[in-house]
Amino acid sequence: MTRRIVELLRHGQPGETVTIKGWVRTKREQKEFSFVEVNDGSSLAGLQVVVNQTVSGYAETIKRINTGASVEIAGTLVESPAKGQRVELKADSIAVYGEADPETYPLQKKRHSFEFLRDIGHLRSRTNTLSAVFRVRNAASTAIHQFFQERGFLWVHTPIISASDCEGAGEMFTVTGFDLKQVPLTDDKKAVDYSKDFFGKHAYLTVSGQLEAEIMAMAFSNVYTFGPTFRAENSNTSRHLAEFWMVEPEMAFCDLDGDMDLAEAFLKHIFKYVLETCPEDMEFFNQRIDNSVLATADNIINNEFARVTYTEAIALLEKASKTFEYPVEWGLDLQSEHERYLAEEHFKKPTIVTDYPAKIKAFYMRLNDDKNTVRAMDILAPKIGEIIGGSQREERLDVLERRIQAQGLDLAEYWWYLDLRRYGTVPHAGFGLGFERLVQFLTGMGNIRDVIPFPRAPLDVEF
Ligand code: 4AD
Ligand code: MG
Repeated sequence: MTRRIVELLRHGQPGETVTIKGWVRTKREQKEFSFVEVNDGSSLAGLQVVVNQTVSGYAETIKRINTGASVEIAGTLVESPAKGQRVELKADSIAVYGEADPETYPLQKKRHSFEFLRDIGHLRSRTNTLSAVFRVRNAASTAIHQFFQERGFLWVHTPIISASDCEGAGEMFTVTGFDLKQVPLTDDKKAVDYSKDFFGKHAYLTVSGQLEAEIMAMAFSNVYTFGPTFRAENSNTSRHLAEFWMVEPEMAFCDLDGDMDLAEAFLKHIFKYVLETCPEDMEFFNQRIDNSVLATADNIINNEFARVTYTEAIALLEKASKTFEYPVEWGLDLQSEHERYLAEEHFKKPTIVTDYPAKIKAFYMRLNDDKNTVRAMDILAPKIGEIIGGSQREERLDVLERRIQAQGLDLAEYWWYLDLRRYGTVPHAGFGLGFERLVQFLTGMGNIRDVIPFPRAPLDVEF
């Protein structure tokens, strides 16, 4: 039976006969034997294999196994004299599945830039950094499900194709079945006639599963989504993707304080779980990517987040001995420079900002008694900025109707959302965590395109 390399490195005993399968990372030929390092993706470290000349077909096999070749190796585990590894494998036989020509295989043993690796997105997961990222990504996904399942939240699958704009920001990709060479127009020829399209109306890729999650929360009390969402914003930054994964819990009978408490416990749980399950990968990020990764994780797990209102945050920014590119005044939508000042320089830890001006937030957020602000909360992370956006929802039918209209949206389009306020409405709240920003926060990776296997961004849709 084939064994996973991670398991052999942790628990393998000298004397065991084992078979491994994987890809060659390096080969060092000596006089009478060769060292081959094999990696199967299960851990950062590969398994060192010693291939003696006595192995049948030695000369020909060693010639064929260059960096990138795929192999199956059977042999016996022996104690390793080398530093940093308990065991190595003494090969009895080697079978080559596929060669990798060293003249053309792009991943040779040297440091490649992340830009270069993005151009070879089909091969980059075989590098140390990207494979560590995707193991952490997997562990974070598991931690998320574990957190909610332990608390009795139902995982609900919300649609990817949708007819409503949850955020009301108009940043949506159209989904159409039209032949683009002959798109039907309305009688006055001024607009596309979507009533003739596949769905009979204008459809989009969803920007958020929240509105549907609210429907489900009104039946199951506590639910969460975890799926892809899409934004057609032309933002070429290290924090934005056109396709990203979002986690959106929604809780009935919950206010903003409950929402913030859950979000804080949630982030702490994920960091703890990832540190426990991926210690080598996290150590690697701390050494090679950002030497504050482990201190940050410790800070998240052991300290309470800062909590301030938007109005207090504005006062802090006004007092800051720093000039911002976007001048600070009440009513301003916090820019990345402001978010980072608060979380990175002022509080030096994740910071929850609440009660934003109604004008700059979505229609569904609950209006405060001052009629100027809404029960919104954003969690700002050092280096990343906004990582979570959430709110208590407007549960009062009349207020919600006025908010939808005030934002220039069509009431009729939201008939079912309004029905939730007509029949058995309750106070409820939720938030959305940008999953890729979380993985950046965990790993210290600077560019969001390097924490998702196949990034989708402006002019970027290869692979
Ligand atoms: O703040 P946002 O737009 O909130 C919502 O979509 C709400 N419906 C969530 C809810 O209350 N259920 O997005 C939530 C998070 C942001 O805080 C950010 O982390 C991430 O999603 N995000 C993006 N991540 C990558 N690329 C983008 N273009 C993103 N836009 C938002
Ligand atoms: Mg937001």
